[in-house]
Amino acid sequence: MRLTKLGIVIIALELALSAAPYSAQHRQPNEEKRINDLLARMTLAEKLGQLQQLDGESNGNFRPEHRDLVRQGSLGSTLNVRGVQRTNELQRIAVEESRLKIPLIFGFDVIHGYRTIFPIPLAEASSWDPSLAEKSESIAAKETYASGVRWTFAPMLDIARDPRWGRITEGAGEDPYLGAAFARARVLGFQGNDYSAPGRILACAKHWVAYGATEGGRDYNTTDMSEQTLREVYFPPFRAAIDAGAGSVMSAFNDLNGVPTSANRFTLSQVLRGEWKFDGFVVSDYTAVKELINHGLAANDKEAAQAALNAGVDMEMVSRLFNQNGPELLKEGKLSQATIDEAVRRILRIKFRLGLFEHPFTTEAPESLSLLTPANRAAAREIAGRSMVLLKNDHEALPLKRDIGSIAVIGPLADDRRSPLGWWAGDGTPEDTITALAGIKAKVSAQTKVTYAKGCDPQSDSDAGFAEAVAAARASEVAVVFVGEISETVGEAASKSSLDLSGRQMDLVKAIYATGKPTVVVLINGRPLTIGWIAENTPGILEAWMGGTEAGNAIADVLFGDVNPGGKLPVTFPRTVGQVPIYYNHMNTGRPPEQGNRYTSKYLDVPWTPQFPFGFGLSYTRFKISNLQLSAKQIGPNGKLTVSVDVENVGQRAGDEVVQLYIRDVAASMTRPVKELKGFRRATLQPREKRRVEFALTSEQLGFWNREMRFVVEPGEFKVMAGPNSEDLTEATFAVTGR
Ligand code: NOJ
Repeated sequence: MRLTKLGIVIIALELALSAAPYSAQHRQPNEEKRINDLLARMTLAEKLGQLQQLDGESNGNFRPEHRDLVRQGSLGSTLNVRGVQRTNELQRIAVEESRLKIPLIFGFDVIHGYRTIFPIPLAEASSWDPSLAEKSESIAAKETYASGVRWTFAPMLDIARDPRWGRITEGAGEDPYLGAAFARARVLGFQGNDYSAPGRILACAKHWVAYGATEGGRDYNTTDMSEQTLREVYFPPFRAAIDAGAGSVMSAFNDLNGVPTSANRFTLSQVLRGEWKFDGFVVSDYTAVKELINHGLAANDKEAAQAALNAGVDMEMVSRLFNQNGPELLKEGKLSQATIDEAVRRILRIKFRLGLFEHPFTTEAPESLSLLTPANRAAAREIAGRSMVLLKNDHEALPLKRDIGSIAVIGPLADDRRSPLGWWAGDGTPEDTITALAGIKAKVSAQTKVTYAKGCDPQSDSDAGFAEAVAAARASEVAVVFVGEISETVGEAASKSSLDLSGRQMDLVKAIYATGKPTVVVLINGRPLTIGWIAENTPGILEAWMGGTEAGNAIADVLFGDVNPGGKLPVTFPRTVGQVPIYYNHMNTGRPPEQGNRYTSKYLDVPWTPQFPFGFGLSYTRFKISNLQLSAKQIGPNGKLTVSVDVENVGQRAGDEVVQLYIRDVAASMTRPVKELKGFRRATLQPREKRRVEFALTSEQLGFWNREMRFVVEPGEFKVMAGPNSEDLTEATFAVTGR
């Protein structure tokens, strides 16, 4: 205990947070001895070869030069090379023709499925059920393994508060607690408890770090933020991934506080290796080492290699500066032998842990038996259904009746096979995708007349298809309009300055609505969009996201009530792009927004509230959350508190509610967010069923990083809030005492 300048008593906690040992579950017997034996025999060129990763051809083949490089021991890894025949062929050269017979590690971007494509990660996070992500990744791992690849560049763990950034689609949204829960689940899904087992693959936590916070949401850009924000908001999903045993990490493209993340000693060495005891390896992002020159951190190739290696990058993706400059840097004393050996050691360690030395080839059942199986499709359908979020349902617009006489299926995304696959779609193909139109046709009764009209192209200014679409709506009992984004406009290099529906899509919705027919809008998109007019006018809105191979069947399941939607938004939906960044866990400010008071923190031309808040989502039934109780009114700084609350299904159907728990540290030596998510539970309840949900609140959840960059729990009042989203909350208070 001690007194700060402000006179506030601070209790510093030696929390597990600062020194939990890196998960040892994947360790192999004698691995260090085997590494030492190899290191003793390796030439400098062979060592540098292990640090090199090169790209294959776009069709999944390796490049002709790879044969020679592998034979010489100058290439340790590839990306994008896949297919058992190819990986086995190149691997054979490595383990039979190279001097030291060190196996290759093949990597690939398996972000939300290999051949069976699951919903985009942002969608899966909307399920608020991490076990679903674990399931989808374990299936993705099996398919990936069957295709000769043992390493995925996933999960992407970047917290994103800016939907202009296209890569928001690849993560779990804006919240560190939810993000950490999904990070853990995804790592376990890929790796299991032993990633040397058949059907398991190595995970790669990326992009380390704060890539989701680049200026203006521009990809590859600059991040400048306090260490507190890094530690409290951007680090936690990575920490969770490392604690779950993630064996590799990818350094990012972005600059961070003046030191690009692929040359940042603080993040790569001090935090990752030092504080977190991470003993796997770091691969740079694609040519990120070479890009240190553009960043202005290095004057030339040699300096770039020096900066990245010395900071703690172990493997270089695609650019070849470690190999080209390593020998000279060593000679000049700008790089030590120990640094090179440490990088090699880390890579070999993971190759041993993967069992690659014992089992370098893929010899299991043929790929065809493992990919896109009926069971995998069934899982994709279930997960897609559980990932959808019902944003509006006035006058019970949904669910639709299966035996409805006629339905108009309208919109550019209603029968588009590519968009549901999202950005990284592994080896998923549009031919395998079930579109919404196909899903609806398969669901409705034989008597139902389904009329489809595309209406417009999402990327064009033409309204030539409107008349046909309006006629289809007029001729039907109900119109369901599918609008959103095409996959080329989400993901990497897909930043946008507008979040409005592209092309004439909004006009199409207005035209259909103007027919007077009950209109439901289904969004197929990879980021929050600004849909103000739709939110105010159309009675039904379903956020279906980019739902993967089985998207269409899952959409039909939800539209017709076979699945009662229970997802919640993992990210705030703004009203206008000018509100960005807008996120629920912001600081209160000295002048929080107040109606009628000009001199408070808000805009003149738009409400300060979002269109849809974080955690929001409806159901075909209704729930009541009440009777919030705390096990104590006071706890010590190391104490624990149980929070309990009733959740009751007060409607007519079975359904899911996600009970969410937030806290607020009312006054502290540093300002604290107005709310912070600290627990959540998705529960399925029958009509009139009532359940008591309990959450444990521990010091780890109550603390923060103080001015001296120590994790502390400070005495004082805390609010506890529980509810169905981040705004509709019931509240109680407790105090942390000084001892
Ligand atoms: C660049 C992306 O930023 C990264 O996420 C991906 O893993 C690599 N390319 C490899 O494809």
